[in-house]
Amino acid sequence: MELIIAKTKEEASRKAADLIACAVRKDPKIVLGLATGSTPETMYSNLAEDCKAGKVTFADVKSWNLDEYVGLEPTHDQSYRYFMNAKLFDHIDINKENTHVLNGLATDVNAECEAYEKEIKDAGGIAIQVLGIGSDGHIAFNEPGSSLVSRTRKVALTPQTIQDNARFFEKAEDVPRFALSMGIGTIMEAKRIIILAFGANKADAVAGAFEGAVSAFCPASILQMHPDVWFFCDEAAAANLKLKDYYAWHGEEVLKEELGG
Ligand code: PGA
Repeated sequence: MELIIAKTKEEASRKAADLIACAVRKDPKIVLGLATGSTPETMYSNLAEDCKAGKVTFADVKSWNLDEYVGLEPTHDQSYRYFMNAKLFDHIDINKENTHVLNGLATDVNAECEAYEKEIKDAGGIAIQVLGIGSDGHIAFNEPGSSLVSRTRKVALTPQTIQDNARFFEKAEDVPRFALSMGIGTIMEAKRIIILAFGANKADAVAGAFEGAVSAFCPASILQMHPDVWFFCDEAAAANLKLKDYYAWHGEEVLKEELGG
């Protein structure tokens, strides 16, 4: 895993956006896996700016999102389809028909999840998967205890996640208790993973993911088993890492190389 530590969320987001834009320029038909939550918002704004400035085009890009709440209409302002349109798709030249978000209203949940996995496979698999990390170490909605080889399925949110996400709803009781989520096994099949974490409330999860034992109790720790992970943090989120200076030094070097000097 490579770790890039920036002073601020803005600086880290810009670097992560550069890595994605560079990959899209190299492969204009790239398949992206996308994430929601407050974490990737700044990076998505950066990509939208790049697209408007003519530095990158998403015209032939396809995307699959990680997860969706069960029971929310795509037009609900807290649904992840709504989020993706509002924060990214409405501001770039992507064809919305090439963007995919799980249907949280599906009556046959298993069929929905199986079809989603098949679509990703038929598209050639995800080249770059964007991830955030929950304060409990979750990735997508794979909460502690999720099988490390799980596939796309219906999952139950932990009380911690419900509390963390209550800020987006009027009250905690409005946060859906269930979601459809790509599994950890699904995520691990992406060729490259770009994970972002900002703020002191992510510091324990980042330390668990990076330096803890690989365990279903911290689902993000499975990323230690992936050959191509780029972790972008601000200083607050990286604060609990024992070897952070070493990771940061090496991360900067390889990022420079990756972006072409
Ligand atoms: P956040 O959520 O970006 O809203 O902090 C991250 C996550 O739960 O993956």
